[in-house]
Amino acid sequence: MHSFAPILAYGLTVGASLISASPIEARGSCTFTTAAAAKAGKASCSTIVLDNIEVPAGTTLDLTDLTSGTHVTFEGTTTFGYEEWAGPLISMSGKDITVTGASGHLINCDGSRWWDGKGTDGKKKPKFFYAHGLDSSSITGLSVKNTPLMAFSVESNDITLTDITINNADGDTLGGHNTDGFDVGNSVGVNIINPTVHNQDDCLAINSGENIWFTGGTCIGGHGLSIGSVGDRSDNVVKNVTIEHSTVSDSENAVRIKTISGATGSVSEITYSNIVMSGITDYGVVIQQDYENGKPTGTPTNGVTISDVTLKSVTGSVASGATEIYLLCGSGSCTDWTWDDVKVTGVCC
Ligand SMILES: *[C@@H]1O[C@H](CO)[C@@H](O)[C@H](O)[C@H]1NC(C)=O
Repeated sequence: MHSFAPILAYGLTVGASLISASPIEARGSCTFTTAAAAKAGKASCSTIVLDNIEVPAGTTLDLTDLTSGTHVTFEGTTTFGYEEWAGPLISMSGKDITVTGASGHLINCDGSRWWDGKGTDGKKKPKFFYAHGLDSSSITGLSVKNTPLMAFSVESNDITLTDITINNADGDTLGGHNTDGFDVGNSVGVNIINPTVHNQDDCLAINSGENIWFTGGTCIGGHGLSIGSVGDRSDNVVKNVTIEHSTVSDSENAVRIKTISGATGSVSEITYSNIVMSGITDYGVVIQQDYENGKPTGTPTNGVTISDVTLKSVTGSVASGATEIYLLCGSGSCTDWTWDDVKVTGVCC
């Protein structure tokens, strides 16, 4: 028979309802008020409430290796102490995990303490959330504010992230940089539904993976809906991606695919549809095969192919001085593109 006594010693409150399918699997409903208690007690809980947790500086709110079927809820305000370190601030893994936010909750990273306008350079800044090996799982309704650096790093199979708000608007004036919304890699089956992202880098960046669906997005202030840079990683295949029904405003780019110069890999079966852009400062649509060290070289190579790209109803306007559409392909490496109702206009007069 499982005993809760040792866990109680760490400050765990066991709620009234115990799930008891069989005595051996009996797991409780747990409310944790410290990150240490959550880490120590997580395996014994079928539901975990993270109640106003102040995560100590330089430590991860560690919810890795959760027992299958666990339901995690963020309640109240989750905060983090300040230290220069790589993070992540939160890490979660497990199978069949359900993550939700209680009404009124906020995960407040207070990123301005790290922001220096230099992003991954300058002060060492923690990434926010690793969903690595969070398989057949869902994250719904989280409200996140001011991440120091990238927000969600997704490396999971069959994961759905719904109604997530990443509000890094303060970073526009306080030095936020490289605050990507969702970075997806090494994943098969990622659904991102109705996200709102106000940030200072890619709203979405897909570096590798298959069967990825992003819909209903509102992207403000960042670098747009990106695939890449693809190349020079362990996995350099991006396949079957649909990005649709989204708006991109006041951002550097709206639709972007970039591949690494001299690398090998493939980007295929890509659809961008019903994308509406406004206030784009660099490129409305940009597809380029010349990235090196995070910058374009101007000379494309053809080792990472980009095939079967559909743009359907990609419309809107770019700001004065920006380019509507920019394509830079290597010899023979951009094939089978279908573009329909792509209407990007500049600012006139
Ligand atoms: C492509 O990805 C979608 C999810 O976006 C999935 O429903 C579909 O089955 C995938 N298609 C193939 C051929 O795997």
